[in-house]
Amino acid sequence: MPSSSLDRAMFGMFSTHALHLADKHGVFTQLMAGGPATPAAVAAARRIDEETLERLLVVLASVSVLERGTDGTYRVADGLSPFFDTESPRYIGGFVRHLVTNTTGRLEQLDDYLTRGKAVVDADLPAPFDVIYHDEEATREFLEAMWNLSFGVSEELAGLAGLDGVRDLVDVGGASGAFAVAALARYPELNVTVFDLPAVGPFLENTRREQGLHDRLGFAPGDFFRDPLPAAECLSFGYILSDWDDKTCVDLLRKAYDACTSGGRVLLMERLFDEDGGPLATAAMNLSMHVETQGRHRTAAEYQGLLREAGFGECTTHRSTWDKHLIVGRKA
Ligand SMILES: C[S@@+](CC[C@H](N)C(=O)[O-])C[C@H]1O[C@@H](n2cnc3c(N)ncnc32)[C@H](O)[C@@H]1O
Repeated sequence: MPSSSLDRAMFGMFSTHALHLADKHGVFTQLMAGGPATPAAVAAARRIDEETLERLLVVLASVSVLERGTDGTYRVADGLSPFFDTESPRYIGGFVRHLVTNTTGRLEQLDDYLTRGKAVVDADLPAPFDVIYHDEEATREFLEAMWNLSFGVSEELAGLAGLDGVRDLVDVGGASGAFAVAALARYPELNVTVFDLPAVGPFLENTRREQGLHDRLGFAPGDFFRDPLPAAECLSFGYILSDWDDKTCVDLLRKAYDACTSGGRVLLMERLFDEDGGPLATAAMNLSMHVETQGRHRTAAEYQGLLREAGFGECTTHRSTWDKHLIVGRKA
């Protein structure tokens, strides 16, 4: 008999899809709002096929995402509701959708990478963000996934960054503004400019309107490979360096060093590898980075090494209670 760790390795694909479909069809919302329910009751309420739903619920119960009562009802396991609540900063539905609709298909490239090498295979493919932003719907889907991944943790990261007294921050590749919004909420004297590709502009504008941040949140369209970065006391990079190889990261950080005022700082916000190669989420996303971008995940020491190579000193690492952490470098 396979061990449970082998089972998890072999059958993980099924739980990812079950998670996505239950979220997409409002099953979690139904169970959270209506309380424990049988597959028949959920299927009727959501107008979906009962037998298919029942099989999905069994999978989710087998990985302890749901709990099954002796009366045949299912409920969301203790502590997991915020992850399925679309109004919660911990909601993961958009990110899981991205894994299923985007990442899954691209994992097939790995076989090709193994035999022909990534550089050879990628030479025939468009650049990562040309694929990700190929139309408005794909752009929206990606930016929603990024917001899901980053907004909840950003409040804590903004606190760890200790930005009291800082007046201006440029969030490089700041997407639709998840970190910007959290930093602005925490520091009333701060102004933030999101520097990102022009395609992101309308989505940042939506955030600015929805959050009522017209005076304090700006957008600077640009390409960080071609354009200089706007000058600021603080420049932040959330999930940016994990998209690129070491040399590209150091080049970007040198640009940040040039744009950073003396005494200022740069913030890197990233998943981190432990020294032993875990945790699973970082290991899995490291493979995802391989097929979706040209990057990888790193240890805190590796990020500090990149910062030092670009000229920053006094490098420190601050771990959050989530899976995105902060590494700070100072400009003398
Ligand atoms: C992985 S997302 C990270 C989003 C956000 N910072 C976060 O932490 O969730 C990478 C971001 O880099 C931006 N980006 C990619 N290439 C860029 C370029 N050449 N110039 C400016 N921004 C770029 C993308 O548009 C996207 O918003």
